[in-house]
Amino acid sequence: MATVRSLRAKTGDEPITMLTAYDAPTARIVDEAGIDIILVGDSMGNASLGYDSTLPVTVEEMHSRTAAVARATDDALVVADMPFLSFGVDEAASIENCGRMLKEADADAVKLESGPHTVELTERLVQLGIPVMAHLGLTPQRVKELGLSRQGTDRDDAREIMDLAKAHAEAGAFSLVLEHVPANLARQVTEAIDIPTIGIGAGPDCDGQVLVINDVVGMGDSVPPFAAQFGDVKSEMESAVDSYRDAVEAGDFPAEEHSHVEDDLDELY
Ligand code: KIV
Repeated sequence: MATVRSLRAKTGDEPITMLTAYDAPTARIVDEAGIDIILVGDSMGNASLGYDSTLPVTVEEMHSRTAAVARATDDALVVADMPFLSFGVDEAASIENCGRMLKEADADAVKLESGPHTVELTERLVQLGIPVMAHLGLTPQRVKELGLSRQGTDRDDAREIMDLAKAHAEAGAFSLVLEHVPANLARQVTEAIDIPTIGIGAGPDCDGQVLVINDVVGMGDSVPPFAAQFGDVKSEMESAVDSYRDAVEAGDFPAEEHSHVEDDLDELY
């Protein structure tokens, strides 16, 4: 089983691989493929729960999906992504919400969309034994304030991301997601801190890469410009559903091999 410590030891070897999963069958496939980290991302809001942003995702939804993923995962590190306003408002409530992901849902760590308000909280959680993955750059929980555009594109913003990356590494975060930032900023952050960086739309020089599973397998509704599609599951599903409908409508399903006849049950009345 992966631990935060074994992930740290991995830096410098092959790039770390991370993918999202929101349910047990998907987690099993991702885990069996040897992916290092499964992120139960709050991207489930758009990707799985039918919301139009990540903001409505609740602690209970995250808790239930994290537990499902953890039950199906043997080797990968399972990280629960803390929903909007479930952390950073009140320290005791933040600790309780994050702690439940480890204590009850069996996550190995939590991820916090980070900012100046999460430095002390990260330190406190780590002191309590709750490993924290930080997340800087585009943080979709700030969609109402910043939209979903690339971050760190001018020197002031880039320096702010660099300073926050250092502060979170010093506070004890075990890794840092860098989302939708220039590749040359991600490279400098990666060189400046001693915890692994995991990029999404952050170029090739991070210590690892993460994507949303729906985009990877071809189930994404609106695929971001930095994602790549490695399969076409949506077409496969459409074709299977069409074939099922046609077979039922034509009377071809269920066939004899799908039915069971009990000898004694004819002519009941
Ligand atoms: O919620 C999510 O899936 C994420 C990744 C995109 C890093 O935060």
